[in-house]
This record gives sequence, structure tokens and C-alpha cells, in this order.
Amino acid sequence: MADTLTVIDNRTGQQYELPIKDGTIRAMDLRQIRTDAGDFGLMSYDPAFLNTASCRSRITYIDGDKGILQYRGYPIEQLAEHSTYLETAYLLVFGELPTAAQYAEWERTINAHTIPHENIKRFLDGFQHDAHPMGILLATMGAFSTYYPDAKQIFDQASRRLQTIRLIAKAPSVAAYAYRHAAGRPYIYPDASLGFTGNFLRMLFMGTEATYRPDPVLERALDVLFILHADHEQNCSTAAMRAIGSSQSDPFSAFAGAAAALSGPLHGGANEAVLRMLQEIGTVDRIPAFIEQVKGGADRLMGFGHRVYKSYDPRAKIIKKTAYEVFEVTGRNPLLDVALELERIALEDDYFVSRRLYPNVDFYSGLIYQAMGFPVDMFPVLFAIPRTAGWIAQWEEMLLDPEQKIARPRQVYAGAAPRDFVPRERRG
Ligand code: CMC
Repeated sequence: MADTLTVIDNRTGQQYELPIKDGTIRAMDLRQIRTDAGDFGLMSYDPAFLNTASCRSRITYIDGDKGILQYRGYPIEQLAEHSTYLETAYLLVFGELPTAAQYAEWERTINAHTIPHENIKRFLDGFQHDAHPMGILLATMGAFSTYYPDAKQIFDQASRRLQTIRLIAKAPSVAAYAYRHAAGRPYIYPDASLGFTGNFLRMLFMGTEATYRPDPVLERALDVLFILHADHEQNCSTAAMRAIGSSQSDPFSAFAGAAAALSGPLHGGANEAVLRMLQEIGTVDRIPAFIEQVKGGADRLMGFGHRVYKSYDPRAKIIKKTAYEVFEVTGRNPLLDVALELERIALEDDYFVSRRLYPNVDFYSGLIYQAMGFPVDMFPVLFAIPRTAGWIAQWEEMLLDPEQKIARPRQVYAGAAPRDFVPRERRG
């Protein structure tokens, strides 16, 4: 069996043999298919990249039909059970799990870079008290490009390492500052004696107590959520990170763009949208009317559906289990009943079944965040913090890939035919 695709162009009768590799043909191979010497050649048309692989990647594997997610070959279920977010971040960035010595050094280095520049506090003061924390996060992380001009040395490996550490280390600090800015509370400096996630919780929630110790169950639950969100191959925000980075801009600027892509309700903003949806539905008896609204096209069932997962989202399974562990500590979130009933009805209803719409990572995460005391608008920020590791790993992979160039899609022009300029006074 030859690994080729035979194409016959019925416009010309010409036949072409296109090589098939890894289940793909090269879009550039289509360009030889021309009607005559002056023809530009055939392109593929793929709005929203439904069927286009834009890179070869060794970072994350997803099988959407089987509900498989692996980082660097490790199943997400095993990482969620045995790893920590910081270790998973190391795995994503370096490709292998760290040894004990490597992990200790990684943790020490991240801890050494958690404090943002002191001027950042004044930068934050410029935001309104009700500014959305996702806007604060992306603007502040983007502003770091002006604090670290060395970040422009993107082809210097040592510089890339340093920016990687800065991004991963500072994201939770900026997120905590954003939260405290909205709450009108003083900013808290990081405490290196706590783990990555415990320290984040302290920076958020520490009050007047002399020492703050996070609840270990909640700390572990948030760490698991961080592991689950750390990467997801070529999603909208990662594609943005790679596209921006492909123009050779610095990683802080690329982060700002990726975070902007993440903030939308169809992507990382979905966890916030789910919670607002559940609050709006309010009680179980109002679910049937809401479902009808969704089926009529007036609404979307937020937290359902995925471009890639068509049987189930393995992250959602783990999150649902984590939710029950969290509720043991915090008490049951009253919206859980609405979510469970919504899920039960949707999984039986032909509209959702026939479209293969299942709960995704965002369906239950918001209930956990809310039970832990996070305001709803912090939810997308809680997605962005761990995704920093994935973005930076994907960004570096793109930079070092000899096949990559500046990302520049083609278009099919569908506008006006050439015409002559008409002076304003003569326009109808
Ligand atoms: N509620 C109701 N109908 C839906 C939904 C939904 N959540 N998602 C998809 N559909 C319908 C859609 O209307 C379409 O129906 P039809 O064929 O009759 O026009 C069909 O299902 C296919 O949908 P699509 O929009 O072509 O699917 P997509 O792959 O472009 O979109 C999605 C994927 C995640 C944007 C979409 O499912 C969605 O909007 N879900 C709600 C938002 C959400 O939960 N996003 C979080 C995604 S997971 C976290 C992350 O990685 O960002």
C-alpha cells in the first residue's frame, strides 16, 4: 500500500501523487495543481482550522474519540494522581519528569522569581477597583516585557530559560495582586516555605493571622486543577501564543495575546460563564425551560462541547471527583444540584447526544472555585496560571522548529472587483 494520495484535477485531466505522512498531506503540495502556468495553484480552505495541523508537536497528545489526554506521553489521570503542578510544568517545558535533585532546583529557582517588580504595584493601582482580573493579568504580564528587555533575546537559550521561570513564577503573584486589588486588601509577598499552590492561596486569602496555612485538601485540589489545565495542544490561546511568537516578539508580549485569547467565553472564560449560567438557572425546576432555550439556539449550554473531545473530556471526570473532595471541606455548593441535573438531562437528550456534546473541563471547575471562595471573575485567571507552562513550552518548540516561519494564513478574497476611486462630492 503506497502512502500517497492520487488526485485528478477534473479541470485539466492532470493526475498528481501527493505523499501522505502521519495522516496528513502537505498543503504546499496542492500548489502544483494548476490550470495553467499563470494560475497561483490550489489552496485548502479551512476557516477556524477544523482540519489543519499547523505544527508537529512532542508535547501533548489528545485522542478526542477515546477521551485520551497525555502530556509528554504520561496519561493525565496518572499525573493528576501522583504529580504536582510544578513537576508537570517541568515535564512540559523540559520533556522529562525531573529527578529529585532537578525538582528541588526547579522549585528553588521558581521560588526565587515569584516577587514581581515593586513598580508593578503602582501599575496595578491604575486599574479601576472593578477591573476584570483577566484584563489585569494579561496587561501586567505583557508589561513585564518592558521590565525585562533581555526577553527579546529569544534565540539565546539561557534567556529563554530565565523568561520561562519568570513567567511561571510570576503568574500566580500577579493573579493574587489582581484579586487583592479588587478586594482593596494589601498585596502579600510570596512565602517560599509553602509550595507553589499553597503560596498562591496564601497570597490571595491571608488576612490578619500571624501565619497562614492553606487547607491541605483544598491546596491539593487546586494543584490538581492546575495540572489538568497545564496544556491542551493547539487550542485557541496556544495557537495565538505560537502565532504571536512566530513574528519573534518576546514571550511576555506573546503571553498577553494568548491570555487575551483564553479570556473569551468559548475558551478559558467558559468556567466563569458556566457559573453565571448556573446562577441564572438557579433551581432544578427551571432546567427544562433552559434546555429548550439552548435547543432553540437562543443559548449555549456552557461547559458542554469540545472541538476535539467527542466522547468525553478526561479532565471533566477528574474534576467531578475533585469537586466532591472539596465539598467535604467547604460544604456542598448549592449549585451542584443544578449542574448534576443539567448534566443528567443533557446526556439523555438527543440534541446533545447527536452532536456528541459532553461536559468539558469547565463544567465543574467553577463550582470548586466558588466553594473555595474565589469570586467568579477570577475563574479564567485560575485557568491562565497553569496554562502558562503549556504556552511557554509550545512557544519554545515553535521557535526551535526549523519548519516554522512567521504564521501567515492565506485568504480567499471575496470583496469588491477592482474599481476607480470616486471623489467624495460625486458619490451617491
Ligand atoms: N450548547 C449547545 N449547542 C452546542 C454547544 C453547547 N455548548 N456546543 C456546540 N453546540 C452545537 C452547535 O450549535 C452546533 O450545532 P449545529 O450543528 O446544529 O449548528 C454543533 O453543536 C457543533 O458545534 P460547533 O460550534 O461547530 O463546535 P465547535 O467545535 O466549533 O465548538 C466549543 C466547540 C467548545 C466552542 C463549543 O462546543 C462551545 O461553545 N461550548 C460552550 C463553551 C465552552 O464550554 N467552552 C469551553 C471549552 S473546553 C475548555 C477549553 O479548552 O477552552
